[in-house]
Amino acid sequence: MKYTIICGSQRKESQSLKVSNYIKGQIESTDNKSSVTILDLGANPIPFWNEGFWEKTDYWTAIWEPISKVLTESSALIIVSPEYGGMVPGVLKNFFLFPSINEVGHKPALIVSVSAGMGGSYPVSELRCSSAKNNKICYIPDHLIIRNVNSILNGEGQEANDSHDFYIKRIDFSLNALAMYAKAMNPLRENNYLFQPDFKNGM
Ligand SMILES: Cc1cc2nc3c(=O)[nH]c(=O)nc-3n(C[C@H](O)[C@H](O)[C@H](O)COP(=O)(O)O)c2cc1C
Repeated sequence: MKYTIICGSQRKESQSLKVSNYIKGQIESTDNKSSVTILDLGANPIPFWNEGFWEKTDYWTAIWEPISKVLTESSALIIVSPEYGGMVPGVLKNFFLFPSINEVGHKPALIVSVSAGMGGSYPVSELRCSSAKNNKICYIPDHLIIRNVNSILNGEGQEANDSHDFYIKRIDFSLNALAMYAKAMNPLRENNYLFQPDFKNGM
């Protein structure tokens, strides 16, 4: 099974990228039939959306086609978002203007929010509330909020606070749940009913 992780930090070498790499490693080491692609919006931000995207200009085709292919081939998605000023970072909001129902519609997605402190709840509600209307990505009920992120998931022999073991187990649970949703939802997308052009956008 193919997964895509969207790493929504605006920073290169971010804590969100650390978490994304950990998740990729967990998936690929527990299931050798699975592969994970990370789209790191910190290192490779997508330019701000403009009408040229809808007009399918060469400029936008060159940017979007490789990303579209990765998303289209994926059965499950993981959105990793830091909390910036109680919000989802701008690069991630911009990202959600691009994918259509054909790329992410009716695919399960796990939200992973990241905070250096005790925050991290706002990106979860923001993503659930306002990122899925037209692309019809399906957030699973479980989500993860990785708090005090600097002190966990740092690798063997590195700094680890008391919650480290809890997060390891909780991340595994959420990844197993996501895989179960992905298997159950794959057949859904074989039916064109859900992809009728007249109703491709949500209300
Ligand atoms: C512009 C900016 C705003 C931030 N605002 C918040 C916030 O509202 N809540 C919070 O818990 N952490 C906040 N942080 C700290 C992040 O939790 C911290 O940078 C953490 O490492 C996750 O972000 P990263 O993935 O970009 O590294 C903010 C960081 C930046 C750069």
